[in-house]
Amino acid sequence: MKKKLTLGIVVAMLMILGICACGSPQVQSSSDAPSAQSDASAAASDQPINWSPDTDCSMCHATEHSSLTDAAYLLANGHSDMQCTECHTDTGTLTDVHSKVTASDTKGAKRLKKTEVAKETCLSCHEADYTPEATASVTALTDSEGTTVNPHDLPTTSPDHETILCADCHTMHSTDTVEESAQSTCLGCHHAGVYECGTCHD
Ligand code: HEC
Ligand code: HEC
Ligand code: HEC
Ligand code: HEC
Ligand code: HEC
Ligand code: HEC
Repeated sequence: MKKKLTLGIVVAMLMILGICACGSPQVQSSSDAPSAQSDASAAASDQPINWSPDTDCSMCHATEHSSLTDAAYLLANGHSDMQCTECHTDTGTLTDVHSKVTASDTKGAKRLKKTEVAKETCLSCHEADYTPEATASVTALTDSEGTTVNPHDLPTTSPDHETILCADCHTMHSTDTVEESAQSTCLGCHHAGVYECGTCHD
């Protein structure tokens, strides 16, 4: 936010300077040409990119792009043939998110703020894999009292558990292991490292 405001001010100042330069006959013509050129390229990189699912994503989301083929990102690597928009399906919101993005905004995004990758998207290919049996022997989710929870069979007693997405554990563009991501997902609410609340809170 702050950055954008600053950029806006700089752009506004450049525009004012540009107008002054044009209106002023004293300006040397030798310095006019390059300044007109840099004004033009500044204007081009300042234009919204007019995002669509066919836009080349890699120039701004380099990490996510390389994660699909880099062996360090084992999970994303299993999805290397996929188009970005097969998981990032919310075209309407993504068009909105990119509506003010310009060609010079190549830093991309650090996390999903306005969209999510829904369970249904993952299940459309993995229905048969998402079974309690697939994770029956996983012990990574064991709390300080020794309670072990099967990650594909979370207790249904808390509606909060329904908000947990596949990707909260199976991150796509991170090198964290599924066990690490799963544990930190639980800790997000079970902050005391115990899979209960009522023993300490009403
Ligand atoms: C010119 C640079 C650029 C291009 C090209 C681009 N993006 Fe982005 N993208 C951004 C920036 C900058 C943000 C952060 C916007 C913000 O938070 O205001 C972003 C945000 C996102 C987000 C986060 C959405 C959320 O939930 O907050 C996703 C997902 C995303 N882009 C996917 C894509 C995909 C897929 C493509 C290609 C079809 C693409 N982007 C092309 C710059 C770009
Ligand atoms: C278009 C189909 C498709 C979608 C959508 C998809 N995947 Fe996959 N996924 C695959 C394929 C193909 C593989 C590699 C082959 C395999 O091991 O099943 C794979 C591999 C995996 C693996 C590793 C499986 C193993 O045996 O080690 C996991 C975990 C996984 N995907 C989770 C997800 C999650 C979570 C999502 C949603 C964020 C998702 N997938 C979306 C097709 C898909
Ligand atoms: C609470 C964390 C968590 C959630 C939520 C979760 N998983 Fe898993 N999943 C795991 C763990 C842990 C494993 C075991 C990984 C291993 O053995 O390497 C696993 C294994 C898998 C596998 C590989 C299965 C195999 O046969 O090897 C797939 C595919 C998968 N999950 C898909 C999904 C999908 C799809 C969803 C959402 C509907 C989902 N998972 C939700 C933690 C989770
Ligand atoms: C198999 C599904 C899948 C594919 C394919 C995929 N993504 Fe993602 N993406 C996710 C998930 C899930 C997240 C949430 C964070 C995570 O899991 O790492 C995410 C997060 C993001 C974010 C937020 C920043 C971040 O790294 O967390 C951006 C930007 C993004 N993806 C862009 C892309 C682009 C660009 C491509 C294509 C080069 C792509 N994604 C391909 C599933 C996918
Ligand atoms: C969004 C918040 C949230 C997240 C994330 C979360 N939980 Fe919970 N969990 C709760 C709440 C709230 C309860 C209800 C506690 C109660 O009723 O006393 C609960 C209860 C439980 C219980 C006790 C259920 C029962 O009735 O016996 C277990 C076990 C548990 N969670 C395990 C987990 C595990 C494992 C994870 C990580 C995969 C996890 N939870 C993630 C909020 C959450
Ligand atoms: C082992 C005991 C213990 C367990 C179990 C526990 N908490 Fe806490 N919780 C605490 C303590 C101690 C604090 C700090 C209280 C304070 O600073 O006023 C706290 C603080 C909080 C706060 C912040 C409250 C505030 O007023 O700032 C929230 C919200 C909270 N816990 C929710 C939960 C939820 C939800 C669960 C279960 C998913 C849970 N806690 C499980 C002991 C526990």
